[in-house]
Order: sequence, then C-alpha cells, then structure tokens
Amino acid sequence: MGEFNWTKKDLLSLYDLTGEEISFILDTAEEFKKVSQRNVKKVPALRGKTVVNFFVEPSTRTRMSFELAEQRLSADIINISADSSSLKKGETLLDTARNIEALQADLIVMRHPAPGAHVLLADKISCGVLNAGDGSHSHPTQALLDIFTIREKKKKIKGLKVAIVGDILHSRVARSNAWGLLKLGAEVHFAGPPTLVPKEFEQIGIKVHYNLKDAIEGADVVNLLRIQHERQKAGFFPSTSEYAKFFGINEETCKYLKPDTLIMHPGPINRGVELDSSVADGPRSVILEQVTNGLAVRMAILFLVAGRVKK
Ligand code: CP
Repeated sequence: MGEFNWTKKDLLSLYDLTGEEISFILDTAEEFKKVSQRNVKKVPALRGKTVVNFFVEPSTRTRMSFELAEQRLSADIINISADSSSLKKGETLLDTARNIEALQADLIVMRHPAPGAHVLLADKISCGVLNAGDGSHSHPTQALLDIFTIREKKKKIKGLKVAIVGDILHSRVARSNAWGLLKLGAEVHFAGPPTLVPKEFEQIGIKVHYNLKDAIEGADVVNLLRIQHERQKAGFFPSTSEYAKFFGINEETCKYLKPDTLIMHPGPINRGVELDSSVADGPRSVILEQVTNGLAVRMAILFLVAGRVKK
C-alpha cells in the first residue's frame, strides 16, 4: 500500500472521491481480504467503536456484508430498521440521527430512499456516515466492490471496456460504477431500451447504446442490472420477455463476448430476464466473488472513515 493520508469521515458517493482515493480504498481492501482468509477472521481495528446500521429500505447483501465487516473489525453494532424505529411515528431523519449521535455512536451506515439523505446527516452530525444506497442516486460500496473485483481479475482498470446493461435510469449502481470507472480510466458503455438509458450520459463521457451487441462486443466486463418488475407496469418496455430477447445475456448473446469477459451482477438477479442461469452460474461469472470482495471493501472503508471521526 502506498503512502496516502485518508481525510474523509464519510463515504457519500464516488462522485466526491478522486481516482487516488478510490485506488487507496481498493489497496486497503486487498489487505483486509487477507483477514477473511485466516483461521481467525477477526482484527481489533474498530474495538471500542460503535456502528449503527440504519436501513430504511430493504437489503440482503449490503446489510449482511456491512454487519459481518463490522463484526470482523470487532466493533459494537446496533441495527435499526424503518419498521421498528420512531420514523414510523413521524420523527424526522435528523432527529433520529441526533439521538444516535447522543449515544456516542461513531459511524452510521444508512440505506435510505431519498437521494441526498446522507449528505444532510454528514453535514449536521459528528458521526461518520456511510452511504449503503440512496434512492436512484448512489451506492458507493457496491461500485467499489465491483471495481475491486474487476481490478483483481484484470490487474488494471485503465483502458478496459466495461458495459453496464439494463435499467440505467433508476440505477444507483450504474451511476456509482460510472463515476468510479471513469476516474480510473475505463471506457464505460451503457445499454438498454431508450426509455431506460438517457442519452444525456454521453455528456460525462459514457457511450450510450440502444443495441446490446454494440455495447458488449469486445467488452472486458459486462455488468447486468436487475430489471424491476414495477418498471414493466410503468410502461418502460412492452414485456419482460421482450426485454430478455433484446437485452438479456444468454447462450445466444454470449457469442458477442470474449472468452475472458467478466459477467457481473450486483444482485438480486432476475434469472431468465437480464441474465440466464447458464451464464450467471457459468465460467465467466464472478457474481459470488463480488459478494466475497464486498466484505473486504466494507472492512476497508469502515476502518478508514472511523479513523477520521472526531469524538
Ligand atoms: N446489491 C445490493 O445492494 O443488494 P441488496 O439490495 O440486497 O443490499
């Protein structure tokens, strides 16, 4: 790991980070990955620190991964969900956060449906704030684990062709990946139906395609996004079977891929829609390695921001 002075108490978005900061998180995660490969998978890095996991939206992977990362770092942990909190009684988000702060918690890991909710908390409270997903805006730890997995497999990011396919319009994963990958020098391609892929993304250097073949042919990485069933009801595309025919990755569309193209998906997968099981479970897939790497990435970022929280 090179010499670098981490200065931020929050992780809000990859948009806010420099390429150097992103690379430093990935380098730190490489060290933490080794911890999970030992017999005793625990270090005292966050002993005496309290982390509050505050999930106002459902989550399986991110929540489990953060909680296990906190356990592996020996933190004290409190879990709050929207259904069992006083948000239900009308308490404001800021009042809830101020109560968490009054209990001398060090870090809040939050998933919230409102874009920017984390910025509000980070400005107003002394705890470090980690964004575990805010609406359609940002999901920085998902993008970090995706980029970590690409770097681990391809040994670089600069110059790679990365295609992200699906519901770009509503995807915090697509935005976060694009911000991080562009900063590290990758070529980013978005593909999907015109109703789900705004042309405006070209203004920040992303190549936009409405044809799957153009996006994935010769790609080093293809990252598939979940097609949400509620989108079909909203009329963004005629039917899930038509979506699968034109934008699904299956045995047929795999013919455009290189033998070493990485197939990625943040989960949960709609098997048979954006991705067929033969590909999801096939030799190009690194989907479960993404999950493993998420633990190392979250240990790294928890460790880095905890070091900047003033109490
Ligand atoms: N990838 C991801 O964010 O999954 P969860 O919604 O299950 O956390």
